[in-house]
Order: sequence, then C-alpha cells, then structure tokens
Amino acid sequence: MRKMFLAIFAALAFGGAALAENYPSHPITIIVPFAAGGPSDAMARILAERMKVTLGEAVLIENVTGAGGSIGVGRAVRSPPDGYSISFGHLGTHVANGAVYKLGYDLVADLEPVVLLPSNPMIIVSKNDVPAKSLKELLGWLKARPSPPTAGTAGAGSGSHIAGLYFENVARIKLQYVPYRGTAPAMNDLVAGQIDIIVDQTSNSIAQVRAGTIRAYAVTDDKRVASAPEVPTVDEAGMPGFHMTLWSGLWVPKGTPKEIVARLNAATVEALSDPAVRKQLENLGLQMPPKDKQSPEALGAWQKAEIAKWWPMIKAADVKVD
Ligand code: MLT
Repeated sequence: MRKMFLAIFAALAFGGAALAENYPSHPITIIVPFAAGGPSDAMARILAERMKVTLGEAVLIENVTGAGGSIGVGRAVRSPPDGYSISFGHLGTHVANGAVYKLGYDLVADLEPVVLLPSNPMIIVSKNDVPAKSLKELLGWLKARPSPPTAGTAGAGSGSHIAGLYFENVARIKLQYVPYRGTAPAMNDLVAGQIDIIVDQTSNSIAQVRAGTIRAYAVTDDKRVASAPEVPTVDEAGMPGFHMTLWSGLWVPKGTPKEIVARLNAATVEALSDPAVRKQLENLGLQMPPKDKQSPEALGAWQKAEIAKWWPMIKAADVKVD
C-alpha cells in the first residue's frame, strides 16, 4: 500500500517518468472483452501467466463482455492512463467495431498500441448432424435451407461476425446471426446442435474438431494449420481466395507514459519468445507475429491499415445494432 501511494505521489509530483519508475507497484488487469473460456480469454491467460514473471506483479484477467467487445474496450479507454488497465482486443474490437457502432470513443485517438499478438485463420465449422462431408456439400446444404441457416457469433462487429459477413459475400448466401457474449458460449450451442455453423477462430474450434463433437470444412488461409493438418484450406476445398486471419493485440489508454508502454511491450515480447508459451499458443493453431511487427508503432500502423481495408466491406453490409 505504501509503495502504491509513493508511486501516485511521485506521478503527481514528477509526471510519467516517475510513474514508470515504480511501475508496476500493484497488480495489473487485462480487460478481455469476451466470455471466459473463449479464444481471446485463452490467449490472454497464457500470456498473463508469463508476463507476471517479467513484471514482478500479478497480471489479472477481467472479462467485461457485450456489444461485440465494445463494452470491454470502453472500460479500458475510460481507465486511468497508468498502465494498470490493459485492453485485449483484435480485428473485431479494435477495427470492425468502429464501423459498426457509435462507440463513444475513438479506436485510434483514445488508445495507445502496445504490442501485436498471435493470429489465427478462421475455420468453417458446423454442428455434427449437418449432412455434408465437404465444403462444397456444406455450401449446397446452406443454400438449400428454406430459411437462412443460423450462425453463432460473439456479437455484431466481433471476429466471428465479420468472418460471417465475408463468408456470406463470397458464398452468396444469407445467414441468420445468433449473438453470444463470446465464441465459447456459441461453441456450446454448436456442439449441442442448437445453431448450424460458426466461422470461428481456429484456436476456439480446434479442441472440439479433434474431439469430433463438431465438423470442420476448411481454414481461411492458403496453408493448412500445423496443429490441424487434416483440415483443408479454402483454396483446396473450393473457395479459393476466401482468406481471413484474425490478429489480436494489446492497447492501453491514451496518455499512458511511453516508458510504461515500453515495459509492457517488452514483457509481452519476452512471453512470446518463451518456448513453453509458444508451444501452448501454437498447439491452439496460433501463429506468432513476426519479430519486426512486435513494436508499439508497428501495431499502430497495422491497425490503421486494417481499418482502411475492412471498413468499406463492413459499412456496405449495413450491420444493424440496437
Ligand atoms: C472470443 O474470444 O469470444 C472471440 O474473440 C470472439 C470473436 O471475436 O469472435
């Protein structure tokens, strides 16, 4: 407690540099904007376990869900810029949501990029009682439905929703989206046969695919996923070019001292280069970001480039949110 007050006093008296000097002096929280047990939560927890070693303080996970992840990101944006609240997010929450919601915050102006995290291709999966053994058969079955087939998502603007919109476009089908607070609860309903498909993150589906409780048709990449070599690529399965990789990242509130951003970046980069951590992440089908893309500036530039790329498609889809 005394250490924390000293840190706050120093920060008030001497500004960011002093704040950074005593950082961290108490536990740090990563705000995950989706349900526990899902792909974002799983990655955040694996990294937090290793980051605490470097930072010397506990790194806690708080799941703040809803509205495609925009509620959790909003919580981080409104947190003090002192390095103790970190926003975990991805292509959905830190790119797509800006084209879907009136957010009340700016994804670029109100957040400081910290580090690009691993990515994974999406995977097209269905409930087991769909009478299709290949992607072509699945497309035939989806098109023959009297009413739009149901697709589970983590809410409008989430990765699984953007992937669904892209799938609709390329496959020329209509889907009925069923929103959940994350793809973990959506997966429970897919296994139970309550919904028809998910265009999911490989890291979320891989365990169920291996267990045979759901059916996989293709990964949205031009190369197979090392940890699921039996699943063909969309190019092999008859949807050439339907490529989508969902990347994640960490951000902090704008105004967080750059020394603290550098500490958090270093702790994450160290975690990502730890062989035990890499093994856990690669086993989930996750691909490590290239070394030269792991700086805060690289994430900032990549986020802006993805905004320019994805907003036109998302805005054209005219997504209705309450
Ligand atoms: C999750 O963790 O549930 C996902 O990241 C949600 C999504 O964006 O599809």
